[in-house]
Amino acid sequence: ERPALIDRFGRHVTYVRLSVTDRCDLRCVYCMAEDMTFLPRAQVLTLEEIARLGRCFTELGVTKLRVTGGEPLVRRDVLTLFEALGPLPGLADLTLTTNGTQLPRFAARLKAAGVTRINISLDSLRPERFRAITRKGDLEQVLAGIEAARAAGFERIKLNSVILQHRNHDEVVDLVDFALARGLDIAFIEEMPLGQIGEHDRAEAFYPSEQIRADLAERFRLIPTTERTGGPSRYWRAADSDTRVGFISPHSHNFCGSCNRVRVTPEGRLLLCLGQEHSVDLRRVLRANPLDDAAVKRALIKAMAIKPEGHDFDLEAKPVIFRHMNATGG
Ligand code: GTP
Ligand code: 5AD
Ligand code: SF4
Repeated sequence: ERPALIDRFGRHVTYVRLSVTDRCDLRCVYCMAEDMTFLPRAQVLTLEEIARLGRCFTELGVTKLRVTGGEPLVRRDVLTLFEALGPLPGLADLTLTTNGTQLPRFAARLKAAGVTRINISLDSLRPERFRAITRKGDLEQVLAGIEAARAAGFERIKLNSVILQHRNHDEVVDLVDFALARGLDIAFIEEMPLGQIGEHDRAEAFYPSEQIRADLAERFRLIPTTERTGGPSRYWRAADSDTRVGFISPHSHNFCGSCNRVRVTPEGRLLLCLGQEHSVDLRRVLRANPLDDAAVKRALIKAMAIKPEGHDFDLEAKPVIFRHMNATGG
């Protein structure tokens, strides 16, 4: 029997998120502090090491890899990583989460490398708000990125919107309209408390998924579905359309019981849960065993024993997880 990644709660890990950099060309207020120090490049895994992990994971039954960041497309030569991952046997889904700014340059080549799906962050359709949320972003550039992804022929493009009270909660209908007009999916995300972010008050900004569904119900008929994409999103379908409207609700609808994923940080820390610190230093294992994938796979199997049952995020308390989302990969 082939070995597989199964944790002590019987959850099967089939989805791995590979964060390739903590750097980003934007500074979203819920993700990063305004002035961040980024990891020295020497501490970051090489693209070859990340590809090697991808190979080891797929040999252990992982069927879905998602490349994340930071912003993955700002990493030099990142295309070679997609080209290395694309042909891996057993891989059903090679996916990317991006802020979209670099898609005009990359979309067609990502498709050619075997990327199956792309998730693009888009929190506002109003240029000045978009700039305020991202602290420096140009909405036009991201809209051009979305168009480039559509033109490249990706089957399903999903928008990700982190909804914050008083910043963009009044745009949920516009965002769904935008998705509907273009045949895109969209997921609304409740913010998670990772890292301390100076002036940003997360409890105050909290806007529950249920409220978003109520806001949308005034304009759209949303039909519940049992569809899943392997991530934490629960989907409704907008009536008479192909558009799925997803909700990622870590606070209002905990999904840890069906968790099927782990993530690797840019320095090669295997994080068993987004909201906990349990981790394994894979960089050390990779570098101590340059020619021995079996040793790496043993470390991955062993790590399953420390996958925690779930997060215990508390928006009212000070964050207990000090790493920011950009250093984590989501
Ligand atoms: P699909 O493959 O389209 O289902 O993607 P996804 O939702 O798994 O990935 P994406 O990178 O688009 O992430 C959307 C949001 O889900 C981000 O805010 C992630 O941080 C969050 N997310 C993904 N996995 C987990 C998880 O295991 N736990 C928690 N709390 N959040 C997660
Ligand atoms: N909470 C929830 N989602 C976040 N993202 C970044 N930081 C946070 C956070 N603190 C989102 C980004 C992107 C996805 C990968 O995670 O907007 O869409
Ligand atoms: Fe960059 Fe994404 Fe973080 Fe925004 S959420 S700062 S786009 S990594």
